[in-house]
Amino acid sequence: MVEFTDISKILSGKAKKTAHIHGWLHHKRSSGGVQFLLIRDGTGIIQTTLRKDAVDEKTYEKIDKLPVESTVEIKGTVKKDKRAPGGYEISIDDIKVLHEVKEEFPIAKKYHGPEFLMDHRHLWIRGKKMQAILKIRSKILEVTREWFLSHGYIEFQSPIIITAACEGGSTLFELKYFDRKAYLTQSWQLYAEAAIASVGKIFTVAPSFRAEKSRTRRHLTEYWHIEAEEPWCDLKRTMKVQEELVTYILHKLAKELPEELRIFGRDPKDLLKIKPPFPRITYDEATEMLKKEGITVKWGEDLTWEQQKVLSLKFKEPFFITHFPKSAKAFYHKPDPKKPEVTLSDDLQAPEGYGELIGGGQRIHDLDELLKRLEEEKLDTKDYQWYIDVRKFGTVPHSGFGLGLERLIMWICKLDHIRDAIPFPRTLTRIYP
Ligand code: 4AD
Ligand code: MG
Repeated sequence: MVEFTDISKILSGKAKKTAHIHGWLHHKRSSGGVQFLLIRDGTGIIQTTLRKDAVDEKTYEKIDKLPVESTVEIKGTVKKDKRAPGGYEISIDDIKVLHEVKEEFPIAKKYHGPEFLMDHRHLWIRGKKMQAILKIRSKILEVTREWFLSHGYIEFQSPIIITAACEGGSTLFELKYFDRKAYLTQSWQLYAEAAIASVGKIFTVAPSFRAEKSRTRRHLTEYWHIEAEEPWCDLKRTMKVQEELVTYILHKLAKELPEELRIFGRDPKDLLKIKPPFPRITYDEATEMLKKEGITVKWGEDLTWEQQKVLSLKFKEPFFITHFPKSAKAFYHKPDPKKPEVTLSDDLQAPEGYGELIGGGQRIHDLDELLKRLEEEKLDTKDYQWYIDVRKFGTVPHSGFGLGLERLIMWICKLDHIRDAIPFPRTLTRIYP
């Protein structure tokens, strides 16, 4: 069998002079008896040239008529060529068509409306922008794991099918589970709080689900959640973890995928400037800042997207908002012993108008305090019995957080809509393709 060379290897100058490549016909043009074929193999795109005298007449004509997105195998000679995109070119000695496309590729260079592109997502993902997003997603998850594992965290998985809400009932997806009701999880957190007593510091990368009933540019119904939980950890410490992890991701992206970032108008140098500690403001300070802009927040209410945006536009780097009122947060957040009407909670906000990236904070570890909060929130203790149990057997102060992968990408890549941060988005109005 022929050993095929990755196009990326050729473009990095590390390939042999004679190369076999395979890929999709990305684009083509011909001039003066030479066909210029751009070939894409997932690792890169390279220009190849087919001269009339290199192959027999039938093959030359077949290639001349070959529609884009057909697949081919090529044997050729690698040449350095400054004029070629990427600096290398392959002069074709032999070309074989694997699949000849029979109809026109629906996505042309012309303008298509967003609904058309969403309907053709399975083909649209072959384009330059989604390729870059997919590489950025993969890199973020790669370096996230790298950061956690090198800091002593263990990767832990919780169930997706669950029986009680973590983040409140209004965004729970209900599921018929044989003859009973179940839900899709909103967060791994409650199970993570049980698991820290087994393996200590943990993290996960998993899908989370929110039955978000409003049309927004920031909400998916299925998104990827990077979460961490840590025993013997208070609010201050988890915030340090959050800012260090985010900084590590930003710096790695800037160093390893600068071209992909530039596609979205993100200067990698700006990401390298971001360093901990990030600015910290309390909920009270945030509402004061909003008041100065003529926006009143009723004390106790969560900050809306519009309000977050106003604050976020004032910052050039991510910043924390801490100590949210009890009424603005889920039941598990620990009330501040110094001021029990607020919680030891934090949101990490992206700058430039993008808003919330992370929700986190310190959990209630005391049994009686937890029972009191469940009662205040009118939650049924029967649903949370195992979670309550955890407080009976060696409970310790602990904290954690959840980072929305697509929210992070949305900010980094300056996207207008969160759906473009994920290949096959699920939203209120779309579950196809
Ligand atoms: O702030 P949230 O709801 O916090 C939790 O779920 C905690 N249990 C996490 C934890 O402490 N382990 O969600 C965390 C993050 C948000 O900050 C946001 O980035 C993202 O998840 N997120 C969404 N991303 C896309 N679409 C949605 N509908 C999202 N809802 C939350
Ligand atoms: Mg939140």
